[in-house]
Amino acid sequence: MSRTDNLPPSRNLGLELARATETAAIAAARYMGMGNRDRGDKAAAEAMRAFLRTVDMNGIVVIGEGEEEEVPFLFNGEHIGNGEGPELDVAAGPVEGTALLADGRPNAIAAIAVAERGSLWQPGNAFYMNKIVVGREAREAIDIRLSPTQNLHRIAEALGKKINELTIFVLDKNRHASLVEEIRQAGARISLHTDGDVMGALMAAVPGTCIDALMGIGDSTKGVMAAAAVKALGGGMQGMRAPQREDEKRQLRKDGVKLQEVLKLDTLSRSDNIFFAATGITPSTFLEGVNYGRDGSLTTHSIVIRSLTRSIRFIKGIHQLERRGNTQELGSTTPVEVAFEVVK
Ligand code: FBP
Repeated sequence: MSRTDNLPPSRNLGLELARATETAAIAAARYMGMGNRDRGDKAAAEAMRAFLRTVDMNGIVVIGEGEEEEVPFLFNGEHIGNGEGPELDVAAGPVEGTALLADGRPNAIAAIAVAERGSLWQPGNAFYMNKIVVGREAREAIDIRLSPTQNLHRIAEALGKKINELTIFVLDKNRHASLVEEIRQAGARISLHTDGDVMGALMAAVPGTCIDALMGIGDSTKGVMAAAAVKALGGGMQGMRAPQREDEKRQLRKDGVKLQEVLKLDTLSRSDNIFFAATGITPSTFLEGVNYGRDGSLTTHSIVIRSLTRSIRFIKGIHQLERRGNTQELGSTTPVEVAFEVVK
């Protein structure tokens, strides 16, 4: 046991995580619309990791960019932080929506969730997960074993809305053709997005957005990242493994996994002590993207959520580019300095 074992995370950790997502977003934003999915992702991962080295935590990446032999930064099992703080699980998404970034489409974000060590669910060989996400008022209403139509009725009742006043975030994928048809038949409105269901989950769970629920199948690792945010917000989420290919199904059966198991929010994210931060890379209605000002400044927009207090902070960061390099005497580095070091 080290002397830092079992320390509770400091309340300031959320703000440090926002600096880490700012750093990743600033590094990634250089590659917006450049048609290359890997370059922005790699720069963001390197920048996020470099910034996290300065943060007081003893983290292990449990949801990362891939396995150690596949990726250089933020691989699964990597120790992250300066090792001086609490023992934590880290779910790192330096770019959520790599294709959105490459095409310059809305909704690409840099995101990170941290929670007590051992508390985030491990998808194993489950690549895809069916997900349903709602905000706090409808969290008791959802049941992923029921049909989308039944869930829509229950959500509408919980929110005190008519079905045709609901808006559902769905990924625009061939596998969702019948889901989209059923939502339309039920009379609810749909917001289709090519990618980015962590953003969809956030919009469904944060009060006051234009999205009432997220439905459909996406990446399981993104499901864990979303679950941490939804739990911290007090929202509702359920998942179910949804293998899309025969070999994935076969492997899961071999692993002894029950495909019909309902993955409740407390399974996906067991801790009650969670921090989540995200920064917009490309512009969206929920979080504006990284913007270069004419006055030599750079603006970022982030959200920070802390489960213990259920606080939600929207942070606008205005970073003065010409002041870069002036912070060394203060013994600190800024997100802009770290990000520009990576993409110089
Ligand atoms: P990446 O950031 O890894 O590119 O993921 C984008 C994403 O749209 C996720 O938000 C979603 O869960 C998943 O891809 C959907 O996977 P697929 O593109 O295979 O349908």
